[in-house]
Formats: sequence, structure tokens, C-alpha cells
Amino acid sequence: MRPPPNSAFQTSLRVWWGGALALALMALACLQAVPGVDGVRLLIRATARSSLLFFLLAYTAQAAVVTWPGAWSSWQRRHRRQWGWLFVSSHTVHAAGIVALALMAPDLFNTLAPLGNRITGGLAYVFIWAMGLTSFDRSARWLGPVWWARLHTWGLHYIWLSFLVANGKRIAAQPLYAVPTLLLLAALGWRLWASRQKARQVMRQNPGLPA
Ligand code: HEM
Repeated sequence: MRPPPNSAFQTSLRVWWGGALALALMALACLQAVPGVDGVRLLIRATARSSLLFFLLAYTAQAAVVTWPGAWSSWQRRHRRQWGWLFVSSHTVHAAGIVALALMAPDLFNTLAPLGNRITGGLAYVFIWAMGLTSFDRSARWLGPVWWARLHTWGLHYIWLSFLVANGKRIAAQPLYAVPTLLLLAALGWRLWASRQKARQVMRQNPGLPA
């Protein structure tokens, strides 16, 4: 994976502002609608879902352009940095909800998020914030293309796995969690399929290359 070219770095922030506003309104609505600890839990669940939406938009942006070139896919691809920032923003609100829950109801927090979950989830946050901080022109240049690609490739797949586990483990209690779980598996399949298609296109354009 390569850092996005400079032109993509300079795309408008309008998508981010729109998404951030929707995120803020959603957070306020959760806390207003249900007072106390239950409102904070609602906020944690709502942001987990908005984060998944933004994550999937970023995760499938390249695959969309390869498999269905067109106006929508190029719009999705052009704004992939904004999807990434919106994902980081949404998951930072998830973290704020987690801290609030730990302070307001420590026993409930320990039951809902045992130590193992906090360690694996904490590592995901290291990736999330490191990826967010290196998604600016200057910080991406500072990191260099090789480390940028390593961080963003490993981070993306660790976050994908975190979503898969967080949703998959809830299916037994609530079968509807199969929907996000299947979406995540489909997104991975789509990326793999698109990268094969891309490799074939390159081979067709350069018949001299070794297979
Ligand atoms: C230290 C890190 C984390 C902690 C302590 C934590 C804690 C929690 C808690 C307590 C809930 C349940 C809220 C409730 O049912 O009342 C929850 C839900 C969830 N979290 Fe996190 N979380 C962490 C990181 C993450 C990460 C990194 C991801 C994914 C990348 C994630 C995805 C989810 C999902 C998908 C749900 C289920 C939301 C739903 O019900 O639809 N969490 N989290």
C-alpha cells in the first residue's frame, strides 16, 4: 500500500465536516434520549456502528474503483482520507464513552470489558491514533513511504479483525450481529478480488512481465 498522492491529500474537508456534525448530533441525541449510564452505553454502541460505516468506506475505496469505475466509486476513493479521519473521530468518541462508563459504573465496565478486551482494544487504539496522526501530508512525509505503508496495512487489518471479533462474539446472544460480521467478510473478499483484477490488468498492459 502506498501513501495517497499529494492531490488526494488536498481534497476538501467538506465531507469530514458533514460527517463530524452528524457524529456530534448523534452523540448528543444518545445522551439526551437516555439519561445516565444507559445513555453512555447507547453512545458506545452507536459510535461502534458509525465507526464501522466510515471504516468500510475507507477499507473498500480502492476496490470500488477497480471493480466498478464510475462517479460514485471515484468519489468514494477521492475522499478516503476523510473516511479515515471520520473513523478516527467516531472511535475517539467511542473511547470517551468507555472512559465515562468506567468512571460512572466501574463494576459494570469490568464485566462488559474484561482485561483481555482492554489490552487487544487498547492496541487497536494505538493503531487508530497513529494512523490518524500520519494521515497528514507532513506527518506522512516524516514517516516515509515504507513505514507509512507498514503502519497503515497492519493497522487496517488489525482494526478489521477487531471489528470482526467485537461483532462476531455477539452473534450467539443477538443473531443480528451476523449482518456487520458478514459485511466485514464481504469487504475483505472484495479487496482480494479487486487486487487480483488489478494484477490481471497490469499483466495485460505489460505482457513482458513475469507471471
Ligand atoms: C480498550 C478498548 C475498548 C473498550 C474498553 C471497549 C468497550 C466496549 C464496551 C463496554 C462495549 C459495550 C457497550 C454496551 O453494550 O453497553 C463495546 C461495544 C462495541 N465495541 Fe468497543 N471497546 C474498545 C475498543 C473497540 C475497538 C477497537 C473496536 C473495533 C475496532 C470496538 C468495537 C465495538 C463494537 C462493534 C461494539 C458493539 C456495538 C454494538 O452493540 O453494536 N471496540 N465496546
